[in-house]
Amino acid sequence: MCPPEHFRVTYSINPWMDPGKPVDLPLAVAQWEDLRDRYRALGHSVEELTPDPDLPDMVYAANGATVVDGRVLGARFAHPERAPEAAAHAEWYREHGFADVREPEHINEGEGDFAVTASWLLAGRGFRSSPLSHGEVQEFFGRPVIGLDLVDPHFYHLDTALCVLDDGVDGEVMYYPDAFSRGSRAVLERLFPDALIASEADARAFGLNCVSDGHHVLVPQAATGLFEPLRERGYEPIGIDLGELLKGGGSVKCCTAELRPAD
Ligand code: ARG
Repeated sequence: MCPPEHFRVTYSINPWMDPGKPVDLPLAVAQWEDLRDRYRALGHSVEELTPDPDLPDMVYAANGATVVDGRVLGARFAHPERAPEAAAHAEWYREHGFADVREPEHINEGEGDFAVTASWLLAGRGFRSSPLSHGEVQEFFGRPVIGLDLVDPHFYHLDTALCVLDDGVDGEVMYYPDAFSRGSRAVLERLFPDALIASEADARAFGLNCVSDGHHVLVPQAATGLFEPLRERGYEPIGIDLGELLKGGGSVKCCTAELRPAD
């Protein structure tokens, strides 16, 4: 995670960002610290990346790389405003014992567009990550990639429209169908016939931008419609308020890069 000490909205690269709208920085920091402390209280360790004063979107740490089995595929950002973040992430991984850190050839925004299940890498395209990155990520990790077309600019990253709840063998996900093309919806129905389907209101409240450890699901709290269905499926939803960070177009998952070690 990367503290939002320098968070602000001075440019707009997604429909949620309005540079005219003020950000309450102390509140953003407090909300972010609450998320970090929740992870720690649940027994998860959290590493902090040093924020760069010139990179206000750095708080969305999920975009900086993808880590599977302890191997790291770095990011290459679609927008110049965020481009220098990639090197900061790659350097962090190299300095923290990750031996295999690859600089990517094609544009990919890390876990913003790549979601990991036991069987597959689900990969978004359409707004940020290049379709060419899908072949690259498959080759690097040796895991089959399922490419999914995003069609609504409000859901510009896969992690705004789909969340992996349980990365066990069959995998359980929740998603918002209208964020995807017709063909990609059919693919999701085929792979995940029992998926939890989110309403438009919950999706717009960033309800899919969750982090699950397989039991606890940290959910943007305004996505009220997701809590009961999650409980019915045996999960324990925990509401998180990241309202200030929503002004940059991100929430719980965007702020969290998952370090998946080798077994
Ligand atoms: N302002 C950032 C951008 O538009 C938000 C990134 C959100 N991160 C995410 N994983 N969806 O790039």
